[in-house]
Amino acid sequence: MSALSAHILEEIRELPAKYPQPRSAVMPALDLAQEELGHLTPEAMSEVAAALELDAGYVEGVATFYTLFHLAPVGKHHFYVCTNLSCALRGSAEIVDHLKKSIGVTEPDEVSKDGMFSYEEVECLGACEFAPMMRLDHRFHYDLTPEKIDTLISEKRGLLPASGEVAAKPPEGRPAPPRKPRTPRKKKAPDA
Ligand code: FES
Repeated sequence: MSALSAHILEEIRELPAKYPQPRSAVMPALDLAQEELGHLTPEAMSEVAAALELDAGYVEGVATFYTLFHLAPVGKHHFYVCTNLSCALRGSAEIVDHLKKSIGVTEPDEVSKDGMFSYEEVECLGACEFAPMMRLDHRFHYDLTPEKIDTLISEKRGLLPASGEVAAKPPEGRPAPPRKPRTPRKKKAPDA
């Protein structure tokens, strides 16, 4: 029995025709697979490779490079907090500490007891002007504060109406934030 449903595999097979380079279909294909399963299993990655007629090692390489793809279960809502230089200078460490306390985890990718939340630290998301910033699921949030984090958690728990934030309104004299910041990339492990 296949890991992915027939209709998802069909959608994946149709993707290469939409790109000048058929290999470019690998990220949207992995995205579809992850959306269906919650995370990418080895079987799902093999099926994506077969459906796109790509080498399985290449597909796995893409899945392991981008933090957007999860190889193990994560929370229903996943925070990708940028902790690169600009965000670090503007307090991303405090944001991460506050987030960990608020969702009750101690490690990246640990899932909160209620299964709702997890987080990880990622490389620059291309919106340094609005540091500290992060991606939560498919939305981007800028100029983070502990209060903003708590509001978002309450929204996801259904305790507050969802406001969402794709592109923050730029304060006076600041440019608009990027509409499509970079895909999250994994933080490199510090040198031993
Ligand atoms: S350093 Fe955080 S968005 Fe660039």
